[in-house]
Amino acid sequence: MLERIRRLKGDALRDLEALDSSEALERWRIKYLGKKSELNLILRGISELPPEERPAVGQEANRAKMDLKAAYEVKAEALKREELERALQEERIDVTLPGRPVPLGRLHLSTQTLREIYRIFAEMGFQIVETPEVETDFYNFELLNMPPDHPARDMWDTFYIDEQILLRSHTSPGQIRVMRRYCPEPIRVILPGKCYRYEQVTARSEFMFHQVEGLAVGKHVTMADLKGVLIEFCHQMFGKERKVRFRCSYFPFTEPSVEVDIDCILCGGRGCRVCKYTGWLEIMGAGMVHPQVLRNGGYDPQIFSGFAFGMGVERPAMLKYRIEDIRYFFSNDLRFLEQF
Ligand code: DAH
Repeated sequence: MLERIRRLKGDALRDLEALDSSEALERWRIKYLGKKSELNLILRGISELPPEERPAVGQEANRAKMDLKAAYEVKAEALKREELERALQEERIDVTLPGRPVPLGRLHLSTQTLREIYRIFAEMGFQIVETPEVETDFYNFELLNMPPDHPARDMWDTFYIDEQILLRSHTSPGQIRVMRRYCPEPIRVILPGKCYRYEQVTARSEFMFHQVEGLAVGKHVTMADLKGVLIEFCHQMFGKERKVRFRCSYFPFTEPSVEVDIDCILCGGRGCRVCKYTGWLEIMGAGMVHPQVLRNGGYDPQIFSGFAFGMGVERPAMLKYRIEDIRYFFSNDLRFLEQF
């Protein structure tokens, strides 16, 4: 019997040594240490042995059981470590792999152009003021010298929200707001923002676009100031070599009114498709603030005078970057937006 226990123990230890997974270990535990294991049967059968054999067999069987249990613990620990080691090997992260590039945002071309315009006027002492996009008919037209049936209202196709409220069709109503806020102080501001027009959307016109309005009011502001500021602007924005031309025009809120042209930046004035073979590109409207408009802003036209101008933002950007269709600006196509 003692011999049998020793052989059993020897077999068990040899098997234990050879196995290499926790499943095999569990099978081993059931076979050698489980309730129905041979060793357990021996222990349970001790009472049936002749009394003189019992102590020795009991001792040997119990020692075998303890030794096997201890060996089991050691093996279990070793297997656990091995399996962890293997998992770590298999799931190892290759830190030398290049990372995924983080996509960088960028400023919209309209924003970039606006900032360029801000920079130029800021250098000339103009402050930036924002005025409402949703306006009243009163500010958008009437206070700009266009009473309800004035034919010049046809220059702007306007989105009305109701009889009185509209989406501003130009940034000019901001002039009145600024004058009423700062009167009787002198003023030198630009008013950037979105404008809306109820128009057929085509390659050349969008229903929403940006403008930058300018306004200077003071005691000795003259047409020469207007020309000096706008020529300087055109040179900084479109190149020192640009020729600038002031052409007589009409706006109800300025007197006299002009339109400002530069020689075509594409053909240098020789004539091309973009300048419609005139050699000139129209950049903005401008003029001396109409006395009635000054009065509407709270200024006495006997004492104060001013000049104003208004320019688009997308059109000059189109010229500069040779963009053929204004609809690209606001259709959110990254293939377009990522080029700037
Ligand atoms: N508001 C005009 C437009 O949208 C542009 C303009 C012309 C603005 C003359 C002015 C100005 O301030 O003096 O067509």
